[in-house]
Amino acid sequence: MTEQSSRLPTRTQTRLPGDSTRISSTRQDDATANPSGKSWVLITGASSGFGEEFARQYAEQGHALVLVARRLERLQALADTLRRQHGTQVVVEQVDLSDLAAIARLHERLRAQKIEIDVLINNAGHGLQGSFADTPVDAALAMVQLDIASLTAVTHTFVQDMRQRRRGSILLVASLLAYQGVRKFAVYAAAKAYVLRLGEALHQELKDEGITVTTLCPGASDTGFATTAQMKITPMLKPMLMQPAPVVKAGIRALQAGRMSAVPGFANKFLAAFTWATPRRLHQAIMSRAMNG
Ligand SMILES: NC(=O)c1ccc[n+]([C@@H]2O[C@H](COP(=O)([O-])OP(=O)(O)OC[C@H]3O[C@@H](n4cnc5c(N)ncnc54)[C@H](OP(=O)(O)O)[C@@H]3O)[C@@H](O)[C@H]2O)c1
Repeated sequence: MTEQSSRLPTRTQTRLPGDSTRISSTRQDDATANPSGKSWVLITGASSGFGEEFARQYAEQGHALVLVARRLERLQALADTLRRQHGTQVVVEQVDLSDLAAIARLHERLRAQKIEIDVLINNAGHGLQGSFADTPVDAALAMVQLDIASLTAVTHTFVQDMRQRRRGSILLVASLLAYQGVRKFAVYAAAKAYVLRLGEALHQELKDEGITVTTLCPGASDTGFATTAQMKITPMLKPMLMQPAPVVKAGIRALQAGRMSAVPGFANKFLAAFTWATPRRLHQAIMSRAMNG
């Protein structure tokens, strides 16, 4: 996979909303004090689903964007639309995040363009439904690579700059499956449990350095995820499917409010509360049933 960066003709940004509205007034000032004059948001997995919607909602807020994924045409089409609709500055980066060296090169390219990332949306990921023993080990490890290793590397890379500036916001996209082991989603659920635990720890670790870390735990949603994961939408799951827009809105709100984690949607909130209130064996069985029928 080739890496490619494309930048649009520049339009001056005038709206610079901070990403820490309910933290403290000092933090609010810091969050908007990007010397480049723009507040940049980097979104991984921006070519579809939640990532595409994050791009739309941050563009509406007037942020400049870096869109990252492998499918260049989809990124370029989205970038063109956002420039036209919002006058947003958008940089497109075609990167296969499974390649850890490519993450370092992405960071270098942005640095060379003097783009400072204020908000990192660590969203790229994929799942795979199927019995653990029947899944080829390469497919399981590809999931571990993207959902765990790449997410960790992207966070570690961009947090260095945020620490130096003593400001920044990071959203990690986990899943409702992070709350329990789930039959036929063994590796994916375990990978998302890692993301949730990482996010919780970093939320504590980095808050005194002016960096907000929030983990978003969506339930089943209408994106490209189910197709990639070869996942069947069971009758139990169907009425719970959320559209990307409210999920993303909840994620941005939680990040701006400086929350540790967020579960979007009433039914998903109920399921998360159910896992706290019931024995593990019970909620594991119910979630496995919901996901597999
Ligand atoms: N939808 C759900 O039901 C659901 C529920 C809970 C959590 N999530 C999580 O939400 C996140 C976003 O998924 P989605 O639901 O929006 O699914 P999606 O529509 O399939 O989007 C996944 C995105 O990740 C990108 N991606 C995949 N592999 C990549 C790679 N190697 N390098 C760079 N980018 C890569 C894809 O772009 P390219 O293919 O162009 O590279 C795509 O933009 C994932 O972390 C997923 O686990 C989804």
